[in-house]
Amino acid sequence: MSILFISKADNPTEWQQALASLDPEIGFQVWPDSGKPEDIEVALVWKHPPGALLGLPNLKLIQSLGAGVDHIFMDPRLPKNVPIARLVDAELTRQMVEYVTLAVLSRHRRLDLIRGAQLLRDWQVIPPVPISCSRVGILGFGEIGRATGNTLVNLGFKVASWTRTPHTVGAVASYHGSEGFTSLLQKSDILICLLPLIAKTRGLLNAEAFATLPTDAYVINVARGAHLIEQDLLAAIDNGHLSGAWLDVFDAEPLPSNHPFWAHPKIVVTPHLAGLTVASSAASQVIHNLRLVHIGKTPQNLVDPTVGY
Ligand code: GLV
Repeated sequence: MSILFISKADNPTEWQQALASLDPEIGFQVWPDSGKPEDIEVALVWKHPPGALLGLPNLKLIQSLGAGVDHIFMDPRLPKNVPIARLVDAELTRQMVEYVTLAVLSRHRRLDLIRGAQLLRDWQVIPPVPISCSRVGILGFGEIGRATGNTLVNLGFKVASWTRTPHTVGAVASYHGSEGFTSLLQKSDILICLLPLIAKTRGLLNAEAFATLPTDAYVINVARGAHLIEQDLLAAIDNGHLSGAWLDVFDAEPLPSNHPFWAHPKIVVTPHLAGLTVASSAASQVIHNLRLVHIGKTPQNLVDPTVGY
């Protein structure tokens, strides 16, 4: 019963220790050394090289090291009929909620304007606007979207959410489908993208979507760079329609040093760090899933390959 670890972004030693502390019997191999390929039952992956999961005759689960699974579906030589699971980890969710709340509050209290005035040594009092003037729209309402929505509702924001299929959720107004998308955008002073990346959500944040947002709206993208057309965002900010953006994800990562986002006064850039998987927190879920598939049971947090998340 072994795990094959494939990731350049995560630390294999940390993972090995975290897994061994829960079950020292479990084998742990770091790609490209898969040990005895027939022993591998779970591949624990983040952006694995295409084809790396072939030749594992007893592979029972492809477990993402992150909340997203789009990186797995990019492999055109993915083994057929092996279930795929995303990571749903309380620590990762908490980090995402923390990060998005930081961005929302920063925009709501106009930290950008306050900081601009500070740099000019200008004692300029920018009065707080009523919280009801910062209507928040959340695109994608899975585990992280719901947790974020609840936190923002508790802070007093008026929150609405949009999903592909209809959903209802307590204090958060819900929209779905393409009509719902337009309605949500029209009422979002702060728009947060937390969508999974699939063909239908690629490029969803484009010139048309930005034009539908109210004047002065603000865009926060913590999902994937490919959700957003970067040139369209720049144009919408530079023509004064949007007040700015806070971005953690980009089309090309690392963001090239000559990219206009870096020095843009109205754009906050962070290097894809909103939520980072912590081995000591997430290892128990991986072990649990390994044990389930080992005895032929269904693992937790499976994704539907026909939908892509
Ligand atoms: C990070 O981007 C993740 O999918 O967890």
